[in-house]
Amino acid sequence: MSAPTKPPTILVIDDDAEIRYSLNRVLSSRAWQVAEAASGEQGVALVKKGPPPDLVFLDIRMGGMSGLEALQHIRSANPKQLVILMTAFGTAQTAIEAMKFGAFDYVMKPFDPAKVLALADNALKAHADLRAAGDQKPTLNIDDYREGIVGSSPVMQDVFKVIGQVTASDVTVMITGESGTGKELVARSIWKHSHRAGKPFIAVNCAAIPDNLIESELFGHEKGSFTGATGQRLGKFELCDGGTIFLDEIGDMALATQTKILRVLQAGEIQRVGGTETIKVDVRILAATNKDLEAMVKAKTFREDLYYRLNVVRIKMPPLRERPEDIPSIVEFCLQSLVKQRKARAAKLAPEALAVLVRHRWPGNVRELENVIYRSAVIAPGDTILVKDLPADLRAEVGPTAAPALSAPAVAGTGSASPFAPAALAEEADAPALTVGTALDYLFAQLKSADAPLLPQIERELAARALAAESGDAAKAAKLLGITKPALQKLLKE
Ligand SMILES: Nc1ncnc2c1ncn2[C@@H]1O[C@H](COP(=O)(O)OP(=O)(O)OP(=O)(O)O)[C@@H](O)[C@H]1O
Ligand SMILES: [Mg+2]
Repeated sequence: MSAPTKPPTILVIDDDAEIRYSLNRVLSSRAWQVAEAASGEQGVALVKKGPPPDLVFLDIRMGGMSGLEALQHIRSANPKQLVILMTAFGTAQTAIEAMKFGAFDYVMKPFDPAKVLALADNALKAHADLRAAGDQKPTLNIDDYREGIVGSSPVMQDVFKVIGQVTASDVTVMITGESGTGKELVARSIWKHSHRAGKPFIAVNCAAIPDNLIESELFGHEKGSFTGATGQRLGKFELCDGGTIFLDEIGDMALATQTKILRVLQAGEIQRVGGTETIKVDVRILAATNKDLEAMVKAKTFREDLYYRLNVVRIKMPPLRERPEDIPSIVEFCLQSLVKQRKARAAKLAPEALAVLVRHRWPGNVRELENVIYRSAVIAPGDTILVKDLPADLRAEVGPTAAPALSAPAVAGTGSASPFAPAALAEEADAPALTVGTALDYLFAQLKSADAPLLPQIERELAARALAAESGDAAKAAKLLGITKPALQKLLKE
């Protein structure tokens, strides 16, 4: 924000003088400063000499150093450099290579001036976002999260406390919650902290094993006990002796099997299918489900006695939409893990992109969030995930109701890092300068003309942005907005 009046700089690298000339003319029609280089070598030298341009247009086919080579030199000298590649010969190969080596975009010649300008606008906006995100420091140290469970929200703190309480004994724990909320993660954490940590942890997904096989799977079978039982086989309970069994999706277990599980819990013994011998097993049972077991007990599809046996301690995993303040740290954790495993190059998320994630409802909970981060981190060309790198359906949530209200007013002289100031609009002449007053006038006009009440949405939007700006620190975000922390949390949940 130091020199908002300094025009963006663009470097055009092409060995064809005509192309340089016409591109220069198109780009110079805006308040952009355009420089030219007549070869890959010359272009690379200019970027290295610095100051690096805000954007580079680079031809792929040139005599001497090729565009793809130049791209690699440029990106290794300045990993943040945004480069748009140009070519007259569009093959899958070159497009793939271009994106692989971190090009921002790829454009075919001959170009349509309007498209070139729109592309440059996007790139310069991304450049501003990257610069704004540049001085972010990681707030989370991945080594502090060996558990793999991240979350500082009050509800998650309660979960951690209960995990701590149940690790000292062999008490049975029932973990409930929507899909993707971390039920298995919690089960593993209980096991890792218990005295059984040195012994096996075996997860059995009751929904994935057909009813006629599950008993053999759990308790083993004797030779010849059913067609196909060609030899004796040990079940999970015997294999897990001394350890912990995690019965996942227990709500999908057949009634007959439920009876046998009850017997393990009551007497600590099993019988192999087709066998007569009673075998003592020492196994701790943890169970999980996303079904409503109470309703199943009422409907007599789940044994009431087993329900009480399993439900000694209950851990209810809160859905992610009820703890949006955990989103920034989960994001950071996922990104650091991905980079550590060399699965992605983007290690940061721009504040505006984070605000989009904080605002989303996450029906798939943490698993969905993880997938979104992974996908976005893989496709982001730079070291920072921008809004444009997020999946289209998430980006679409910014509009169509809230987005026009927040992006339509024209802006003068505020630079493009502000969410109210998309670079494309900043250029328009005769636009009134954006002040709190004009913004309010504009919002009020939107409120009056909106089909649905817009105020709750605006409040929620501001809450999400504040939370993102404060890296998920709910207390600081509340302070920023001048409201209490519970009020902020209420806004986010609405
Ligand atoms: N608090 C958390 N912090 C970091 N990662 C998490 C957290 N909770 C869940 N995850 C990750 O989200 C994914 C889903 O978690 P998990 O498999 O434990 O969920 P689940 O409740 O068992 O889901 P399902 O009901 O679909 O089986 C995993 O990759 C897990 O590592
Ligand atoms: Mg699971």
